[in-house]
Amino acid sequence: MRTFAIAASVVALALSLIGPASADPIIIKFSHVVATDTPKGKGAEKFKELAEKYTGGKVKVEVYPNSTLYKDKEELEALQLGSVQMLAPSNSKFGPLGIREFEVFDLPYILPDLKTLRKVTEGPLGARLLKLLDSKGITGLAYWDNGFKQMSANKKLITPADYQGVKFRIQSSRVLQAQFKALGSLPQVMAFSEVYQALQTGVVDGQENTWSNIYTQKMHEVQKYITETNHGYIGYVVIVNKKFWDDLPADIRDQLSKAMKEATEFSNAQSQKENDDALAEIKKSGKSEIIKLTAEQDEAMRKAMEPVYKDAAGRVGQALIDEFLKEAKSTTN
Ligand code: LMR
Repeated sequence: MRTFAIAASVVALALSLIGPASADPIIIKFSHVVATDTPKGKGAEKFKELAEKYTGGKVKVEVYPNSTLYKDKEELEALQLGSVQMLAPSNSKFGPLGIREFEVFDLPYILPDLKTLRKVTEGPLGARLLKLLDSKGITGLAYWDNGFKQMSANKKLITPADYQGVKFRIQSSRVLQAQFKALGSLPQVMAFSEVYQALQTGVVDGQENTWSNIYTQKMHEVQKYITETNHGYIGYVVIVNKKFWDDLPADIRDQLSKAMKEATEFSNAQSQKENDDALAEIKKSGKSEIIKLTAEQDEAMRKAMEPVYKDAAGRVGQALIDEFLKEAKSTTN
């Protein structure tokens, strides 16, 4: 009996030296509001796969898509409180947190193509913007694409006059609010998860989003027309709770950084295809008529939205807008 007791305490001592913590993986809850079959949804799944592989299972990533855990505004609060560790909100969602600079991404036609976008996000300007998140207890890890936005409604949206009096759902961005006001529309802030129903019941008449979001949320089933405007961009900042990130063991943080870098390359390489495929599916469904604008009609839309730049200068700063415009000019020239 005595030998057994000694043996048992030796085993207990050995176990305590290994430490119970080593058996418990570090959990990263990654919450987002879109479907899994989207650029962001696939990026999150790729990060999970790589993070778990590179840390040898020491980290477990739980991905919660489709607002199953939190809606738009709640998710940022939850991250700051540490209830969730990782998110990828759109650039538009940072204004209400007090980081207005990210709303520059919402300016109509500011990013003419993905090439310009990459120059911004992968250069010093992008790094500087990420740094702004620190003061809110947030660490910015990467920029992920979605794509360019289209306008949808139950009426044909061709000229700026067609937007007069139309109720549009918007994300919580003052720049987007100014954009629709410039068109004479009535913008209404609403969580992403509520858009489909709001369109179906007529709470709002229209919305703006990327092909992949329109398709995976079935918005095309409750919108008769979608105009291919490509007037704005939706992209994301992958963020973590700063304290959680800083407190991670250095080797784990390095492995997760590597996973994030590769997941970012993966996600951004397929975002365009995701949107192209979604457009093809919408066309195939025949549920929504796709409207293309002529060069003159496109020009009229650009002109109608020009006043938004002046309005936004007071919020995001003229100097920042100029930096973006300079990048665009040097890319397209
Ligand atoms: C929206 O709210 O329309 C989008 O930002 C949702 C998303 O995360 O793509």
